Amino acid sequence: MTERPSGWLTGRSAMTVLKAWHAALAGGFLVAYFTAGEDYFAMHQFAGYGVLAAIVARLVLGVMAGERSPLRLPRPVEAVRRWRAGGGGRSPWFALFAAALLAAVGLVALTGALADFVPRVEDPHEAIAEASLWLIGGHVAFVVWMYWGRARLAALPSAIMPRKRSLP
Ligand code: HEM
Ligand code: HEM
Repeated sequence: MTERPSGWLTGRSAMTVLKAWHAALAGGFLVAYFTAGEDYFAMHQFAGYGVLAAIVARLVLGVMAGERSPLRLPRPVEAVRRWRAGGGGRSPWFALFAAALLAAVGLVALTGALADFVPRVEDPHEAIAEASLWLIGGHVAFVVWMYWGRARLAALPSAIMPRKRSLP
């Protein structure tokens, strides 16, 4: 197999693609979730197949991306191993959450596409969709904590009790 250059799909444009992709995925998922049922089925179908297409596109991009690309697929096992070996760097929870989310959202969309043709799959599809919300809730809580909450908590002591030299 030919190795791809490690700089393949790197840089700011790759990050922009990842952010736009994330917005489309999250938006599509929420639209599909809130239009589930018979009343808005056409919208549910459209958004749901959109999510399925987004997951497939992410997997294709991930396979094409080089080692240093932000589009590289998450590698949770590697991340946990590096962290346990004391290698430092990012928390392995980022990779664990990303892999679990890609798998869960992919499964929701895939079972939805199946339910479109095989009515027996409707109940499992609904159950998996409801269960995936817990993971998504955990994901949002995790990113808010890592990117915002931790720093606020660390800044609390000096906010509550300012150091003497900052007093008049
Ligand atoms: C307000 C809501 C959300 C916020 C603030 C948010 C934020 C983020 C952030 C900051 C990351 C990157 C984490 C990192 O640094 O590695 C991320 C990754 C991810 N998010 Fe969300 N997210 C939200 C909702 C969702 C929803 C609803 C879904 C699924 C339907 C989702 C699926 C994902 C996936 C699959 C990744 C991993 C991307 C990858 O590397 O392939 N997110 N999210
Ligand atoms: C990934 C996004 C998706 C989410 C979050 C999602 C969520 C749901 C939920 C929660 C239900 C239960 C609705 C209820 O009976 O109250 C449902 C039903 C259903 N979904 Fe999806 N779904 C998604 C994708 C899809 C796709 C791609 C299709 C393909 C057409 C699909 C087809 C169906 C069908 C046929 C039902 C049964 C409708 C009924 O009870 O009459 N879904 N979905």
